[in-house]
Amino acid sequence: MKLLYVGVESSFINWIQSILEDCVAEVIADSQQFQNILDDETKTFDLILASHHTQAMKSMPSNELAQGLRMRFQKTPIVFVTQSKENYNRAEYVKHGFSDAYLLPFEKSEFLEYLNDSVLPPEKVYKSVVLTDFSETEPLPCDVHLMLPLNRKYVKIGVKGGEFGNVATDKLLRSGTSRLFIRKSELQEFNAAKARKIAQLASGELNSTERQAQLQSMVRGIFTNLFSTADETQHFADGKSLVKEAATIVDNYIAGSKDGDTFKKVCLQIGADTSNYSHASNVAIFVSLFAPALEIKSVADLATAALLHDLGEESVPSEILEKAKSELTFEENTLYEGHVERSLQIIKEKRIVVSEQIHTWIAQHHERFNGTGFPKNLPGSRIAIEAQLIAIADEFDYLTRAIRGQQKLNPQQAFKKMFNSGYYDPEVIKKITFYLGLPSES
Ligand SMILES: [Fe+2]
Ligand SMILES: [Fe+2]
Repeated sequence: MKLLYVGVESSFINWIQSILEDCVAEVIADSQQFQNILDDETKTFDLILASHHTQAMKSMPSNELAQGLRMRFQKTPIVFVTQSKENYNRAEYVKHGFSDAYLLPFEKSEFLEYLNDSVLPPEKVYKSVVLTDFSETEPLPCDVHLMLPLNRKYVKIGVKGGEFGNVATDKLLRSGTSRLFIRKSELQEFNAAKARKIAQLASGELNSTERQAQLQSMVRGIFTNLFSTADETQHFADGKSLVKEAATIVDNYIAGSKDGDTFKKVCLQIGADTSNYSHASNVAIFVSLFAPALEIKSVADLATAALLHDLGEESVPSEILEKAKSELTFEENTLYEGHVERSLQIIKEKRIVVSEQIHTWIAQHHERFNGTGFPKNLPGSRIAIEAQLIAIADEFDYLTRAIRGQQKLNPQQAFKKMFNSGYYDPEVIKKITFYLGLPSES
């Protein structure tokens, strides 16, 4: 989807871009660029948003703006957006030739509705979710829709703040409709509610089979979502936004548990200045998703350790980090292996207060089940299960991303490779893959 912004303020552009995700934008900030775009006959756009926000466009009257754009882009929706109440008159703008006009942020919901109904293809507007994503005890966090497959129309079956009480809806759902749809613009509310539900499930005594099964299905849902972009036709941006989504869910899930405070503090402390924050946060997401498979309760501590495990890599030159371990010279290898000890030093230097356990797990994150790891060559029996889990999540993140010259693997291939390597306890890998619903490797 291609968008043209004419004279629109940058913060507003950022907001729209975040809603529309991977759309391509061209930005016109002054009258010279405006003239150039009118003269260039090769350009086409799906939507044009125009305004008087940028200084250089202020002098152009809105009727000239509208007419210039309308003559050149006859069939494209051209919408006037403004933050200024002064002289705002919707009817007048439409008379000038704009398709519509919105005063923001006051008319934010009307504007989003317009985007949803008139401009965006449905797959951009709606996100598919499942019934079990909603809590039975909480009101709906957002509107919920069903898609009628015949004409691909979306019908609202649940209203934000309400519940699915309706008999007709019940019937539809019982008839096997498991796919429901929410508006992407309400994803944040939806994710927060989902996290509350996971936190509820995880925090209680995990003795009821039903509770366990629900937690498992939520974990499987997040995990499947994360990797649904394995399909090459999907955009990288979709993948990125999914990781962000999963991170929000996991963050809230951890913050909801009683030990979540340290995790939040550590995020704040290291988030801004860690070169490899995305690896660290990915590993934190993965350990959180793998932890219930081994009935580990201290998820917040585990995720905190994951965030901190590679802090020491900042003192290793990037050309060393990019090489495969087998290609490193003796000196390079010494420097690389030193990152474990360095991580622990940095934690001290930055005065990050974490438990003794977390120290141990970080110290052991490169020890291997068959005793070939570093720095202490510990045998599997002496490596804490939490450290093993971080090691698995760590390697899983490398294998499922195309880095260090390797081919990118899907989750199943990644676990298989780890299962056969001897570096990780095969029983632990089996438990994780079983929990996540992936085919067994044995
Ligand atoms: Fe490491
Ligand atoms: Fe790592």
